Amino acid sequence: MVLPAALLLVFQFSVASSTSETWSLCPRGCDCREGIKYVNCSAASLQQIPTDFPTDTEQLDLSKNNLTILPANAFPSLWRINILLISSSNVKRVEGGAFDLLENLWRLDLQRNDIRDLGHRFSIGLSFLNELLLSDNHLEKLNSFMFQNLDNVQKLNLNNNQISEMSSGAFRSMTRLRQLHLQNNQIDNLTNGVFFMLQNLEVLNLQGNQIKEIDTGVFTSLTSLTLLDLSKNGLERIKFKTFLGIQTWGTHILLSENNWTCDCELQRVFGKLHSVQRLIVDDYENVICLEPPALRDLPLASVDTQLCIAETVTVLVITVTVFITVVAAIVMAERNRKKRTGKHWSEESEDFDSQN
Ligand SMILES: *[C@@H]1O[C@H](CO)[C@@H](O)[C@H](O)[C@H]1NC(C)=O
Ligand SMILES: *[C@@H]1O[C@H](CO)[C@@H](O)[C@H](O)[C@H]1NC(C)=O
Ligand SMILES: *[C@@H]1O[C@H](CO)[C@@H](O)[C@H](O)[C@H]1NC(C)=O
Ligand SMILES: *[C@@H]1O[C@H](CO)[C@@H](O)[C@H](O)[C@H]1NC(C)=O
Repeated sequence: MVLPAALLLVFQFSVASSTSETWSLCPRGCDCREGIKYVNCSAASLQQIPTDFPTDTEQLDLSKNNLTILPANAFPSLWRINILLISSSNVKRVEGGAFDLLENLWRLDLQRNDIRDLGHRFSIGLSFLNELLLSDNHLEKLNSFMFQNLDNVQKLNLNNNQISEMSSGAFRSMTRLRQLHLQNNQIDNLTNGVFFMLQNLEVLNLQGNQIKEIDTGVFTSLTSLTLLDLSKNGLERIKFKTFLGIQTWGTHILLSENNWTCDCELQRVFGKLHSVQRLIVDDYENVICLEPPALRDLPLASVDTQLCIAETVTVLVITVTVFITVVAAIVMAERNRKKRTGKHWSEESEDFDSQN
């Protein structure tokens, strides 16, 4: 009889202590694990960021709430935090310095929100950040101040936004960046300098934009590039020089699903690209012609031997014409010379005759 009573007492005590600990250290609606390092406030119907997080928090999940605004200095006590997840939380505005003082923050996830702009002071305090995830928002412009303190970011995901403007200094502080994802935006041209300073960039994903124009120097600073995805854009023609600027050994390039104008010039560019061993066009088989209408929907690979035939014929005709003209000219000249010399002789002989 004594034993069960003692057990009951121990049980009651442990329940009491654990509830009181949870109650006093974990914000309402959240779930705190492993002591208090992992705080999970996902889908907790929060409309504001709680202020009573345990100071030991290392990972915080605030996804699937309704936070609308992230105010300046939104996480004043979380100086140990390294992972902060705020995806799908209806965030519309991020005030300058929202993440100030989060000096150990390594990964910041702001995916699937409604962010249209990140102000000049967005990156304050994020100089140790390694991964910044901003996909599925409504960003339109990347200016040169937005990311200015992100010296240590290695992965930046901006997929599925509405970016149509990137200023030439937009990524200049990110000298350690290894992956830049800009898939499914509205970029229509790439101007020199926009990827300047990204000498550690390995993956540049530009799939699904509207790129038509590429300045020839735009990839020259990318000395570590292993994957350049330009598929699903509006390219009609490209210049060989643009890609020759990539100095990495073994860069894979994707160019399918563009608006290719298949002519001799394009065939030559691809021919030259194939001859450069360090550049690998992985999807050449799927480079499909849009123009001219006679070649629409045909793979460039299936017509590439014919495209320069007309030009070759023209060149041949010109060569033959020139050859004939030259031969004719020589023959004429020779004939004239003979005639003249003959006349000369006769003249001479006439002179001779007259002298006689
Ligand atoms: C937080 O909890 C939700 C379920 O409520 C779960 O889906 C999510 O993965 C958890 N977050 C973390 C970081 O473990
Ligand atoms: C989110 O919060 C705003 C006010 O901050 C409110 O107007 C809106 O109805 C909320 N949305 C949901 C889905 O709860
Ligand atoms: C290139 O894009 C920028 C925005 O990123 C735009 O301001 C400029 O007009 C575009 N240039 C051309 C030639 O389309
Ligand atoms: C590519 O061609 C398609 C079909 O003609 C057209 O709708 C689209 O606007 C073109 N893309 C660009 C970026 O010009």
